[in-house]
Amino acid sequence: MIVTASAPGKLMLFGEHAVVYGYPCLVTTVDLRVSTTIERTQSGTIDIAPSLPGEAEQHYLFTLDEIVQSNVIFPKAVSFVASAIAHFFRRYNVRSGLHIMTTGLAKNYGLGSSSAITVATIAALNALFNVQLSSREIFDLAFAVVLDVQRGTASGFDVAAAVYGGTVYYSKRGDIIEPLELPAPSFIVGYSGEKVSTTDYVEQVRRLYQQMPTLIEPIFALMTTIVEQARLALHAGDHAEIGRLMNINQGLLDSLGVNTLSLARPIFAARDAGALGAKLSGAGGGDCMFAIADDDARGAVITAMQSAGCEVLDVALHTDGVCIDT
Ligand code: PMV
Repeated sequence: MIVTASAPGKLMLFGEHAVVYGYPCLVTTVDLRVSTTIERTQSGTIDIAPSLPGEAEQHYLFTLDEIVQSNVIFPKAVSFVASAIAHFFRRYNVRSGLHIMTTGLAKNYGLGSSSAITVATIAALNALFNVQLSSREIFDLAFAVVLDVQRGTASGFDVAAAVYGGTVYYSKRGDIIEPLELPAPSFIVGYSGEKVSTTDYVEQVRRLYQQMPTLIEPIFALMTTIVEQARLALHAGDHAEIGRLMNINQGLLDSLGVNTLSLARPIFAARDAGALGAKLSGAGGGDCMFAIADDDARGAVITAMQSAGCEVLDVALHTDGVCIDT
């Protein structure tokens, strides 16, 4: 039997960084999907072949013992997939030879995520071994894997987005996960051209928080208020309110030190061209920003973002979560 599962990448909308400490955030999915195909074999080995479009397939071979031992550090290229198999085998007492193929994104823009491949792998194993995990159980296992691989520096918001799809209100490090019934948000997404390490930026903010807790705590509290109001504004489709909240959230992210010129340029250019709001998305330092504009200003905002050095991405938002494709 062969099973393929795919899961979406994500765009962080509001509440990044604060969410690491249990405060809420809002995240939506993008139609950039990663997939995992798994076949059971009699070989007694786990053969993982990650591939990126246009690149030759490579194979990473492990014995079953290597996979289930909890102290093995897996090669970076397959760390999330191998660790997902290890957690799944240990938790559900399953052992089998496997051949696994994963397909990533040629260019992920910081939107595709390791969490998505982890979720796709667990969903494929769930179907293959007929364990009948609920979405909640897939989330819990995938989040445990991500925490294991990233040594604790992750909030789990992207795991929730990959599992549930659409737009998700995420809080208390996953104790609260609420998929929202909304009109699909129509943001303009721009890639700054710079790729950064999320872990480095999370650490940078953690140090600032430790040095100045009395200043940073109220910033996180304000971000929480923004998330709650943004949730209402998204429900109402109130673009002007969403834009104002984006601008305020952006100011607070700047105060945490994660804004950079490569993000600030297209953010100001978008606003100058008539956007109702613009902010960075995710850890900061680079990767993506996004803007919101009424239809009549949309073309000018796109042109302004491009002139400010951004690649404007043609991505659909609020798309389906993990699913079995075959
Ligand atoms: O850079 P991204 O898109 O992976 O988002 C990181 C968001 C943070 O809140 C900074 C970290 C996290 O795990 O929530």
